[in-house]
Amino acid sequence: MFTTRLSIMAVLTAWSLCQILPAAAQEALPGQRLFKNQCSVCHQVVAGQKGIGPNLFGVVGRPAGSLPDFKYTDANKNSHLTWDAATLDQYLVAPRDLVPGTSMPYPGLTNEAQRAELIAYLASLK
Ligand code: HEC
Repeated sequence: MFTTRLSIMAVLTAWSLCQILPAAAQEALPGQRLFKNQCSVCHQVVAGQKGIGPNLFGVVGRPAGSLPDFKYTDANKNSHLTWDAATLDQYLVAPRDLVPGTSMPYPGLTNEAQRAELIAYLASLK
């Protein structure tokens, strides 16, 4: 009797965990994980924090090379790009094709769906 009760409790506990966990996972945008794995080693997303690359808080809608406290390459500064969904998509697939001479040592992300997720995450940083 005691063991039956224990196993019912175990099932109930497992069931309630299943109810809670997906909700917690949904809070983060899918691109956030990708960003953490592929970009966060160089880029900060909290305004004002410095990194190897320019801070990306509010990057969507921002002219390229425009943070006053980051030492950009001339290639980036003189690219006359504005980072919107279309330019970011082109940049992230092959940074050196869109901005020849950029110092961003990132090879590119070929998966289109993942780029879209990443850009949606970047757009949420504001
Ligand atoms: C190994 C370091 C490194 C990694 C990894 C990296 N970046 Fe960069 N990124 C840089 C550097 C350095 C620059 C400045 C380039 C320049 O001035 O030419 C830059 C520039 C940028 C810019 C232009 C910002 C501006 O203010 O003009 C964007 C957007 C960007 N990176 C996004 C990303 C994203 C998204 C990822 C992940 C997929 C990523 N980067 C991965 C180092 C990195």
